[in-house]
Amino acid sequence: MTAHENKTAQPLVHLGITRPEELSSLFADLRGRFDADCASAHDESSWKQFRDAWLGRKSGVLTQITDSWLKPATPELKRAVGQQLNELRAHVESQIETRRAAIETGAEENALARDRIDLSLPGVVRPVGSHHLIRQVFQEIEDIFFSIGFSIVEGPEIETPYYNFEALNIPEFHPVRDDMDTFYLDLPKGAPTPLLLRTHTSPMQIRTMEKQKPPVRVIVPGKVYRRDNPDATHSFAFHQIEGLAVDTDITFCDFTGTIEYFVKRFFGPSVKTRFRPSYFPFTEPSVEFDVSCPFCGGTGTAAGGGTCSKCKGAAWIELFGAGMVDPAVYGFVNYDPKKVSGFAFGIGIDRLAMLKYGIDDIQIFFQNDVRFLRQFP
Ligand code: FA5
Repeated sequence: MTAHENKTAQPLVHLGITRPEELSSLFADLRGRFDADCASAHDESSWKQFRDAWLGRKSGVLTQITDSWLKPATPELKRAVGQQLNELRAHVESQIETRRAAIETGAEENALARDRIDLSLPGVVRPVGSHHLIRQVFQEIEDIFFSIGFSIVEGPEIETPYYNFEALNIPEFHPVRDDMDTFYLDLPKGAPTPLLLRTHTSPMQIRTMEKQKPPVRVIVPGKVYRRDNPDATHSFAFHQIEGLAVDTDITFCDFTGTIEYFVKRFFGPSVKTRFRPSYFPFTEPSVEFDVSCPFCGGTGTAAGGGTCSKCKGAAWIELFGAGMVDPAVYGFVNYDPKKVSGFAFGIGIDRLAMLKYGIDDIQIFFQNDVRFLRQFP
């Protein structure tokens, strides 16, 4: 306890004060002590302590002065003590209020300073995603065919056997169905037709010709499904782009010219194309298109010597199947095979992307590993 606190708890006679003039220095001391306390109240909680120490009803300094000095004062001191006490009270009350206002303003300023937006700080970087490589390759191919007058159509992934097989000239028990091991849907008994996940985008040839009279020039990007065991070049879900052009005067030359144009735009002007005889029930004649290996320039030899690892020294890479539309197919869509002709092709997008971008495992397309995806922004 300080000497001042001692003093305010004792009657004036104990302090040896008997005359009014002796009060001045006593009150001056108190005011000095108050001013020092006031200056050291820097925040709300220290200000509250300081306020209670001076104005507290039970034991605040002013209450002590009233109880110890004023009440027991002799008649000649009482008036002077009352006067000085009032002056001190007025000073204390006004300063305490001023201090409170100052602390509040300071707090607001601090808060403002804390919340102030610093426009020079770098912004929040939001990572921007990109299209999957398969989607990018779709886009590339769509752009090429779009530029030569093809339009884009899409079709259902759940198909009937009629569109997936029969109307494409693949009757039940045709051996080619074995090459397209098929997922069938579990349907309630009595369902009007079996349903399957389409094994190729070719059903859209039929759906398009059913809806539209020639000329037809469409490509069909989409997902297809086969019960193939997954390995480096097989997936049970993969992607194809179907192409179909039918008109009254389409020749085999239009067919090879279109394919060659596409391949050169996709792989670069220096690649060469060739076709070999093949078989599809819905095209006649059918071909398999090859491209001269874009990695070794069609030599079969790697740049640093040795066998090219991409074409395994063959100099050619097999690209996709195609052919002139089999006249039997026109019968399913009410086209007159004597009046119209056309060509169709079916490109496996995943393997095409693997070839162009040097990817050696098809499974990586479906694993969503961002380290892979980020390589194709
Ligand atoms: C067809 O699917 C025919 N519809 C293509 C066609 C259309 C021919 C129009 C003629 C006219 P194929 O079964 O060969 O053909 O498959 C086409 C391409 O799909 C293949 O060249 C290959 O790139 C890709 N492919 C086939 N099976 C898989 C699989 N399990 N995983 C990934 N790609 C596959």
